[in-house]
Amino acid sequence: MNKSTRLSLDRILQSQGFGTRKWCRSLIADGEVRVHGDVVTDYRASFATEGLEFTLFDEVWPYREHVYIALNKPANFECSRKPSHHPGVLTLLSEQCEWRDVQPVGRLDHDTTGLLLMSDDGAFIHAQSSPKRHVPKVYLATTQEPVSDELIAQLLSGVQLHDEPAPLAALVCRRVAERQVEIVLEQGKYHQVKRMLAAAGNHCVALQRIAVGELLLSQLGLEEGEWCYLEAHHLALLAGQLT
Ligand code: URA
Repeated sequence: MNKSTRLSLDRILQSQGFGTRKWCRSLIADGEVRVHGDVVTDYRASFATEGLEFTLFDEVWPYREHVYIALNKPANFECSRKPSHHPGVLTLLSEQCEWRDVQPVGRLDHDTTGLLLMSDDGAFIHAQSSPKRHVPKVYLATTQEPVSDELIAQLLSGVQLHDEPAPLAALVCRRVAERQVEIVLEQGKYHQVKRMLAAAGNHCVALQRIAVGELLLSQLGLEEGEWCYLEAHHLALLAGQLT
């Protein structure tokens, strides 16, 4: 971030997802906003955004140039911009996130649960979704049939999916229960885990993403449907390996 950025208070509130510029000006004029402890009623007052905290309706907000979010996605929510059969994942976030145009990083199927990253930073979304950035995704799949050694061997050596030019293999694949397997993938093809399991002769009955890169869902302490902001130390765990 440019450390010397100064913005007027109405622009600051608007950038943080508190509504239209007009609405933000009315909040300021009504004395609802404090900066450095003082009520500021002039929307033209400008502040350096670096490290800025302001208070709105007695709640303290740090200025965030962009937001990076982890959601523990429940089943029966869609990741698409225009959900058709189930509510969209954006409905689980705050109104500010909606104003900021937060979008999911990639997609999980409507019935897949677990770690979904979201952001309003287009460059971050693009970089995370790029096939050149090998960010491993870790899934826990519950299967209909017991997980056999042969299934694991097939997933590790690669299975041919319809419409794919070459077989796709898991980076890591290990049985964690009679009908549960942990699968680590580098790619994010459509229904990839489910299709790989089907191609190897089993069937996925439940799927949860438990990690992206080295960021573990378990370390975030989120119940299903809960979300949190990711801080710099979390983002460092998502770096992946560029090729
Ligand atoms: N693979 C799938 O089959 N579904 C997902 O949601 C993610 C990976």
